[in-house]
Amino acid sequence: MSHTSAMDALQALRNKRDTRNYLPDPIDDAVLSRVLDAARMAGSAKNKQPVRLVVVTDHDTKVALKASGDFASWIDQPPVLAVAAVNADAGPRRLFDVGRHCQNLMVAAHAAGLASCPVTIHHPEVAAQALGIPDGVEPAMIISLGWPAETNQPSPISGPRVGLEDYAFREVWDQDQ
Ligand SMILES: Cc1cc2nc3c(=O)[nH]c(=O)nc-3n(C[C@H](O)[C@H](O)[C@H](O)COP(=O)(O)O)c2cc1C
Repeated sequence: MSHTSAMDALQALRNKRDTRNYLPDPIDDAVLSRVLDAARMAGSAKNKQPVRLVVVTDHDTKVALKASGDFASWIDQPPVLAVAAVNADAGPRRLFDVGRHCQNLMVAAHAAGLASCPVTIHHPEVAAQALGIPDGVEPAMIISLGWPAETNQPSPISGPRVGLEDYAFREVWDQDQ
């Protein structure tokens, strides 16, 4: 791998911010497929590959999905919602797997110029009903996707990250932190 592409990956990881304001423009299928494919390649515990995505562009379905989260009133706006669902029998690490898929998806989207935001599913039965997800498969997370609006309102809970010194302790847990 060249140094340039390594730096690009680091930059994409470091400066991705969660964004809730989008242009109405659709996402070209070629771009969307590349992003979904990056999510697909995430690893999983014991390589069980228990995560699937439901990709939603239909407005009525987005409206129905709003009721699946307690902080999801805005999710009828983004042009695409990718709903991650996981086999409920996949074991205790299944939400770690979901997180890896969602992060791959969002970083790949960011690298392609797309904005995104994770949205918690507090009421999985609502998402299951809206999407036809069967028993035994757990709706786990919604990721909104779209081209970023020109002016983006910062989230009221957005803020600087904890500093590196306070974040990564060396050798043992640092009690002073
Ligand atoms: C596990 C998880 C659940 C989240 N759930 C929601 C949500 O339900 N609704 C929402 O608008 N944002 C949600 N977010 C986005 C967070 O608010 C966001 O990651 C945080 O404010 C940092 O934003 P920033 O990267 O723009 O600084 C969630 C993020 C994570 C990681």
